[in-house]
Amino acid sequence: TVGKSTNILWHECPIGQTERQKLLNQKGCVVWITGLSGSGKSTLASALSCELHSRGHLTYVLDGDNVRHGLNRDLSFEADGRAENIRRVEVAKLFADAGLICITSLISPYRSDRSACRCLLSNSSFIEVFLNVPLEVCEARDPKGLYKLARAGKINGFTGIDDPYEPPSDCEIVIQGKVEDCPSPASMVDQVVSYLEANGFLK
Ligand code: PPS
Repeated sequence: TVGKSTNILWHECPIGQTERQKLLNQKGCVVWITGLSGSGKSTLASALSCELHSRGHLTYVLDGDNVRHGLNRDLSFEADGRAENIRRVEVAKLFADAGLICITSLISPYRSDRSACRCLLSNSSFIEVFLNVPLEVCEARDPKGLYKLARAGKINGFTGIDDPYEPPSDCEIVIQGKVEDCPSPASMVDQVVSYLEANGFLK
């Protein structure tokens, strides 16, 4: 049943993040990809995971659509459902603590929800990546036909149409997807990998 846990004490284990990171030759972190539906978040997450894996790094992808098939299947797309969706992706913190490079791809439209995750992780291991692809580009792609349904009034509260998206004002990486010149998955991956290398996440 739902309630508040009481009389609980934290238990320390002698094998911690430092020991695990040594085994893995990497620094655990969360690469948090945010952007509109159809901006390419899942594509970037998969391509990044493949590239890092091929270089011998352990990654794990938490994709919004996938997480909503299981752990978060009880959550709506109302503001409180989205907030709880992001809050439960605290799971990413556990992966980072395990030493993994955890890549999340969720719309995460609200600045306050993203900054709560950042606080949880401590600034240094939270890498926010904004896929800055204009709405008209995402809507023209419409890979799942959802924008069409939203415009037809068959989905209510669709991000970018009748629900807000608050772009990050200060994030680690911005990937610009201009109307005339969208970056290839490989160049998006290069941008993130360069950041991870430059900041000591990959040994
Ligand atoms: S959120 O806002 O972070 O809680 O969303 P997320 O968990 O990433 O799920 C986004 C995917 O859900 C589908 N979908 C919707 N998106 C936005 N608004 C509404 N109302 C909605 N309903 C369903 C859609 O396929 C999103 O996938 P992506 O990969 O972003 O296109």
